[in-house]
Amino acid sequence: MKRPNYRLTAWQNWTNDPNGLIYACGRYHAFYQHHPYDPRWGPMHWGHATSPDLYRWTQQPIALYPDENGTCFSGSAVLDSANTSGLGDGGNPVLVLIYTSHPEAAADGRHYEAQSLAWSRDGETFMKYNGNPVIPNNGVPDFRDPKVFWHAPSASWICVLAAFDRVAVYRSPNLIDWTHASDFGPGETTIPGVWECPDLFPLELDGETHWVLLVSLGTDNAHGRGVVEYFIGDFDGQRFVRRVSTPVPRLLDQGSDLYAVQTFANTEDRILLGWAANPGYAGDTPTTGFCGQLSAPRLLSLYRDLNGQPALAARPVPLPADIIAANGPATTELPATAWQLDFTPPDAAFRLELSNDAGECLSLAQSPTRLLSLDRSQSGNMSYSPLLELPQFRRREVEPRTAAPGHWQITLDGPLLEIYADDGSRVLTQLVYPSQPYTKLRFEGLRNVNLTTCHPYEIPQAADPFLFRES
Ligand code: FRU
Repeated sequence: MKRPNYRLTAWQNWTNDPNGLIYACGRYHAFYQHHPYDPRWGPMHWGHATSPDLYRWTQQPIALYPDENGTCFSGSAVLDSANTSGLGDGGNPVLVLIYTSHPEAAADGRHYEAQSLAWSRDGETFMKYNGNPVIPNNGVPDFRDPKVFWHAPSASWICVLAAFDRVAVYRSPNLIDWTHASDFGPGETTIPGVWECPDLFPLELDGETHWVLLVSLGTDNAHGRGVVEYFIGDFDGQRFVRRVSTPVPRLLDQGSDLYAVQTFANTEDRILLGWAANPGYAGDTPTTGFCGQLSAPRLLSLYRDLNGQPALAARPVPLPADIIAANGPATTELPATAWQLDFTPPDAAFRLELSNDAGECLSLAQSPTRLLSLDRSQSGNMSYSPLLELPQFRRREVEPRTAAPGHWQITLDGPLLEIYADDGSRVLTQLVYPSQPYTKLRFEGLRNVNLTTCHPYEIPQAADPFLFRES
């Protein structure tokens, strides 16, 4: 299976979570959990790539290497424009990475992690802070994934991090000295699992500010998915309080293959990238040379769901005009490169099928009651993990979230299929491994299906990804 064109992969070998997402020094930066020596998860480094538009990435030298505090687990980035940390030199604002130092297992077999800093004045070379860790372990295992942002009303840096079965909130005036402010959880979810990769940010709906807390909760094999749950509430600089409760957990994505998401710092819109994989079988996916990919950049917004509650929608950031090779009504032919389909179903019921000459086929249908079903059981290689024998990993069904139907966007790039249904109120991320590209398109019950084709693109590599190897 070829690499995706416009979705970020590691320059070689393994990647999982997106880290340190930020717009800084005139470009977008995405760091990623990376094992540069093997296509399987291993001692974590931070890979680094930059982009002018979130689609065309250039690989930069590896930013963080393991050190005496441990390997470098997930975290975030901020621009310390006021030089609160003192790590700047009064010139360009300093870019600070806040990451988890993951030590060897303790005698009880658990990992007692801590949070560390690294900084850069040029956005390319990174120095570890010599007082690391800045948030030492407090006796809790699985204490990780700091997401930091500046909270203007309380003039403070806020860090949300996962602390085993809850999210802990910390505050700091300078990114170096932190105090614990509050916890959210563990009784807040019905989904069992270790909490990972929290993110907290405000979004507006009808002139009102709502705070959204995202948390990843591992895999849920019974329902055939990775879990990214979201909570909507208030945040006063000290404590997140959930305002909207729902009988069932609210998930960001209804597919099997999205996990460990993070949003960008320093952008006007709230833009998210996720690890487009399921941790249960990510390491078994049938690829060579690379393993793991990030999702399309997704623009987040709030809408009112069927119960009138604020809920989270996601749509792909529009493709830049010069990536689009052709854009017109869809025919029965699909290009072998990355593409996107756009349509608004005239009636509830429709069917859409992608297939190839090998007889492999991916089918999507909506029933008259707008029940969406996506079936990848005949889509290609589905034998690389025993989990894929379970029906819930083969076929997904999703109920409507809105009273009125909306616009649909479907994208395919390499193995990554992303479906944004009804204006992004239902999103499914699903990996498919056909033995040859899908080149045939068949649909019933749809009109005015628009096909956007992308120019083929290969992610440029850093001259030497190991250039800044730490000694
Ligand atoms: C989520 C996660 C994080 C951790 C990282 C390690 O996928 O388990 O909690 O920091 O991956 O690679």
